[in-house]
Amino acid sequence: MILLILTSILIIYLFNHFYWKRRKLPPGPIPLPIIGNLYLMTEDVKPGYKMYEKLKDKYGPVFTFWLANLPMVTVTDWKLIKQHFIKDGANFVGRPEFPISMEMRQGPYGIIESHGDRWIQQRRFALHILRDFGLGKNLMEEKVLGEVTAMIDSIRKSMEDVDMQNIFDASVGSVINNMLFGYRYDETNIEEFLELKNRMNKHFKLAAEPMGGLIGMNPWLGHLPFFKGYKNVIMHNWMGLMEMFRKQATDRLASIDYDSDEYSDYVEAFLKERKKHENEQDFGGFEMEQLDSVCFDLWVAGMETTSNTLNWALLYVLLNPEVRQKVYEELEREIGSDRIITTTDRPKLNYINATVNESQRLANLLPMNLSRSTNADVEIAGYRIPKDTVITPQISSVMYDPEIFPEPYEFKPERFLESDGSLKKVEELVPFSIGKRQCLGEGLAKMELFLYFANLFNKFDIKFHESNPNPSIKKEVGVTMKAKNYRVSMKERY
Ligand code: HEM
Repeated sequence: MILLILTSILIIYLFNHFYWKRRKLPPGPIPLPIIGNLYLMTEDVKPGYKMYEKLKDKYGPVFTFWLANLPMVTVTDWKLIKQHFIKDGANFVGRPEFPISMEMRQGPYGIIESHGDRWIQQRRFALHILRDFGLGKNLMEEKVLGEVTAMIDSIRKSMEDVDMQNIFDASVGSVINNMLFGYRYDETNIEEFLELKNRMNKHFKLAAEPMGGLIGMNPWLGHLPFFKGYKNVIMHNWMGLMEMFRKQATDRLASIDYDSDEYSDYVEAFLKERKKHENEQDFGGFEMEQLDSVCFDLWVAGMETTSNTLNWALLYVLLNPEVRQKVYEELEREIGSDRIITTTDRPKLNYINATVNESQRLANLLPMNLSRSTNADVEIAGYRIPKDTVITPQISSVMYDPEIFPEPYEFKPERFLESDGSLKKVEELVPFSIGKRQCLGEGLAKMELFLYFANLFNKFDIKFHESNPNPSIKKEVGVTMKAKNYRVSMKERY
């Protein structure tokens, strides 16, 4: 009898798992119990671009990928992405609640992982503060140029042998830290930066591993012996990050002047807004947990992405001598001195703009974009997708689509130039994603990429260090892709 019951349960489970719950979703590889399609993320297809290419070839431009037990409808074709995520954007603004994130953040806080009214309120607030800090005006540019100049000075201390990833990290980290907490990093507090960076790296490394995905979707596994240690590491690391952010806020609370409406950084602006809502339930959405999470979101989204892109750009240019030469020729022709380059120079530096664009395309930082969820029933490529389905516009597939970018794995800045040398607008260049959830820091990031890149090459004649004459372009897996360590040596151009 017991055997019969167990067999029936097993049959029902398998029927549900392999057929019933998949019957209305777009096709895709068979998910295994608990791990879903994570078994496809083997070493040879990491970090994932090729895996999506293969799935697209086999199942078409819309397929279902199971992240452990979560089905994710994945859209890889540019025309479909444009038609739905841009033109019908309001139906694609949700974010799924990943169980481990909710446990770590103590709810759907922050911007990146929040949704609904909280997301609208907090995204609007963040954009307002960024604008107030002068994004699009000279103020933000001055701050970025201050960091560019400090970076150039620090390079001059050891020009023969430089690891630019560390230098970009600390410099771009200073831009975002200044915006969030009102101070930059230098020799006196670099240890704090390094600790924050190491914890962030660890967090994303853990999250990107199949085991991270598995526990992320099933935090209850953390009660079982084999998984317990792993989950403890994830939680411990996260708590450490939150403590660092919370300390910033509590330090500020001790000295904040509520009589003045002025603010000099994000934390101060947030705390003053919180005060205005102190008689409302949950401080009108300005809870301290919200502040912790938003600090995490802005810090990580604002530092890693930009810094990694700069390091990729440098690597790609040095690996392509003809590009390197054209960059220097343009600087010679259009700038012709060691003065600081500003955004007013941008319209005449077409080749440099094209090189930065191509670096963003080829670096293709997020093989798996952040997921959305549908806010209504939608139909894509003939598939009916119900409200609240997790769905991902896979921007990495667009930027490596050979139909749009022939020889997609080659570095060719010319793709972004018209035949007369002017800059070509290519709508499929989508490193900041698309639609209503498009990157909130795009304006700041583009300004930074241009100013850092142009000024670095204008000041220095850069070559690979002799210890690594031909570094690898293999990507290191994390949530955003990192170049393997390489070193360069520099000489003053003037
Ligand atoms: C090269 C640099 C950057 C790249 C490539 C990049 C890319 C992205 C991408 C692909 C998304 C996901 C959008 C989606 O859901 O489809 C995103 C979201 C986001 N980014 Fe960026 N980003 C960069 C820099 C920045 C900076 C400097 C900041 C902050 C100042 C920032 C803040 C954010 C935030 C808050 C979100 C979440 C937006 C939302 O959910 O509403 N990013 N970014």
